[in-house]
Amino acid sequence: MTRRKLVAGNWKMNGSRAALAELDGIAAAAAAAPNVDVMVAVPFTLIAPAADRAPTLSIGAEDVHEADSGAHTGCVSAAMVKEAGARFTLVGHSERRMDQGETSHDAWAKAAAARRQGLHVISCCGETEAERDADRAERVVQAQIEKSVPDNADGSWFTLAYEPRWAIGTGRTPTLEQIAAIHAIARAKLRTLIGDAADGVRILYGGSVTGDNAATILACDNVDGALVGGASLTAAKFVPIITAAAAL
Ligand code: 13P
Repeated sequence: MTRRKLVAGNWKMNGSRAALAELDGIAAAAAAAPNVDVMVAVPFTLIAPAADRAPTLSIGAEDVHEADSGAHTGCVSAAMVKEAGARFTLVGHSERRMDQGETSHDAWAKAAAARRQGLHVISCCGETEAERDADRAERVVQAQIEKSVPDNADGSWFTLAYEPRWAIGTGRTPTLEQIAAIHAIARAKLRTLIGDAADGVRILYGGSVTGDNAATILACDNVDGALVGGASLTAAKFVPIITAAAAL
């Protein structure tokens, strides 16, 4: 089973209308890499102008609420981000788990809400440093996948992202063996949950991916792309990652 590589950016709480100029270079690189899917998740306020500015890019949200509408002050629904121009959303990012106390069950409910609107979902999992040190990384990721992946998940709308928390924004990455080991376990866990559809689900690696390490990480077994934070904020840093994926 060949899975198209996917390079996704996550701007987190960064960016401005002025920063959307970066999308021009990213869209050009994406057009020059027809064998790679390129997505960029931006803050809610930038979804509409980003989608207007870069109509050929897949622009997405960083989160959605699990309900379709209702009395949830300050929250944003999947239908709202879709209307603004989002084609996908992240769910279960570790920063939301840490900052907002979100759980794997929340990620499951948010994925289902996004699916109801026809959005693609990138669902995040990953262990803390303490969990890795205690040799629990594999079990933690398996449990997160078990609780967060919807029964009807398949690669047409669902992507998993393995992001060890201790590698996010730190410049530290797991060894290639550690990455391959978790991705293999994640694929096996998906298979127990959704059967053969697991073969079509892309599993991204995230955490301090740069133009320097992308080629080796993306070449690991069961690594179908990257979820990129800091290095997605500028075309100068993000384009080399797209190019590395295209060369595989
Ligand atoms: P960095 O690439 O900045 O480490 O962030 C990874 C991440 O959290 C993407 O969702």
